[in-house]
Amino acid sequence: MNYFCGINRMKEGTDFEKKHTPFIECPDVVKGDEYFEVKITTGIPHPMEDGHFIQWIELFMSNIYLARVDLTQFMKPEVKLVVKAPSKGHDKFTLRVLMRCNLHGIWEYEKEVKIE
Ligand SMILES: [Fe+2]
Repeated sequence: MNYFCGINRMKEGTDFEKKHTPFIECPDVVKGDEYFEVKITTGIPHPMEDGHFIQWIELFMSNIYLARVDLTQFMKPEVKLVVKAPSKGHDKFTLRVLMRCNLHGIWEYEKEVKIE
């Protein structure tokens, strides 16, 4: 399988997929216009060594770019970012993360968050 063709997603729940999926941990419900913490980490630790490591993690709110973290093999692919929720006119939004392994391509994960 060529992981560099397109964007990969968890399909069968294998350990390989869990190593490459950038899971999002954050509240299921947040307050409009307020900051909340988003933790991004792989389900199973991914190697971080010369020749095989996570290169970057990007966070989006739906299709709006929010942030990017570049990594080297000396870092753990785990980040905490503080995000401002959309205004109260919205009732929900989607957080989307892309994460790239230098050998296994780009992996995506999404989480829907409600606004109270
Ligand atoms: Fe990998």
